[in-house]
Amino acid sequence: MSREYNIQMVDLGAQYKELKTEINSRMQEVLESSAYINGPAVRTFENNLSQFLQVDHVVSCGNGTDALQIALMALDLSPGDEVIIPSFTYVATAEVIALLGLKPVMVDADYDTFNIDCKQLETVITSRSKVIIPVHLFGQCCDMDKIMQIANQHNLYVIEDNAQSIGAEYSFDNGTKAKAGTIGHIGCTSFYPSKNLGAYGDGGAIMTKDESLAYKIRRIANHGQSKKYHHDLVGVNSRLDSLQACVLDAKLMRLKKYNAQRADLAMHYSKELESLEQIIVPSLFTKSEHVYHQYTLKVLGGKRDELKEHLNNNGIPSMIYYPIPLYAQDAYKQYHAGTVQETTERLCKEVLSLPMHPNMTRDQADFITSKIKSFYS
Ligand SMILES: Cc1ncc(COP(=O)(O)O)c(C=O)c1O
Repeated sequence: MSREYNIQMVDLGAQYKELKTEINSRMQEVLESSAYINGPAVRTFENNLSQFLQVDHVVSCGNGTDALQIALMALDLSPGDEVIIPSFTYVATAEVIALLGLKPVMVDADYDTFNIDCKQLETVITSRSKVIIPVHLFGQCCDMDKIMQIANQHNLYVIEDNAQSIGAEYSFDNGTKAKAGTIGHIGCTSFYPSKNLGAYGDGGAIMTKDESLAYKIRRIANHGQSKKYHHDLVGVNSRLDSLQACVLDAKLMRLKKYNAQRADLAMHYSKELESLEQIIVPSLFTKSEHVYHQYTLKVLGGKRDELKEHLNNNGIPSMIYYPIPLYAQDAYKQYHAGTVQETTERLCKEVLSLPMHPNMTRDQADFITSKIKSFYS
């Protein structure tokens, strides 16, 4: 009975069916033009994304991890400089810091929002601190008023890791608004296929309001060259290809609608589940729109893995983002010997993300919530 619902965490196939004619014809144009790298499709997408986000400069690149690395490379940091990140995030955020010989300094999470705990941020700042990388996790912005205030006070750069919250709008204390990824000195995003704006392969982008940073970032992403065979910086080879740009441009036009469909589904999940005492539905941070890259429950009483198993037995996938704190990963232990951060530890044991995508039907959602209720009945 359950299999008939064919529930997936993310249903990319259903989305492709909707967009097939448009995407196929855009791709056909690229194939016939042979402009596979740095072609007009890439420029068009960058311009459209910069308009959508209301940010002056968008530089596309190979993936979200490269975006973070290139952003850090653009800031003239020295080996050993400290970069402050949350301990509850995807590994990419820490990886690029370590790769560049910098030191990741990890801060505990806020239990309600899953994002970096701003109350603890200031306590880790030292004379070597140079950058804060807030990660807008699961679709909701960090407290950017607070983060920018701390950064300005201590002369730190802010690179937003916006891989999971593209399109989310942040409301500042002074009443103005800005899109996630356009608030700090640099913003980074990922177009991994399952992201809210996902390609059919890898892709990423870097956003900034600063023209000279944008020029530097564009050069770093393309072998550090200002013009062909003139390399004034050490760079990398990280480019979005034209075929991915076609897919992304087609989806960008619909991103607002897709994010609204995610939010509708989330509201429905929460309405059905919020009366269960044994789980906590996602809380809304008043200053940020939520674009629900993930719909993540906190499962109390040590029952998370049992609930996951129960859902699995009913043909319902679910995921644990993230099961291990960054500082407890073998590759990163060296940076935080002996650290235990209470909230991150707790979240790693409680979080469970439910299927979330714009093509989910009400019947599928109801089936999922009914099975969660039956677990507790
Ligand atoms: C928070 C976060 N940062 C960075 C990345 C890296 O993006 P990519 O997989 O495109 O390299 C991801 C993607 O999974 C992510 O979720």
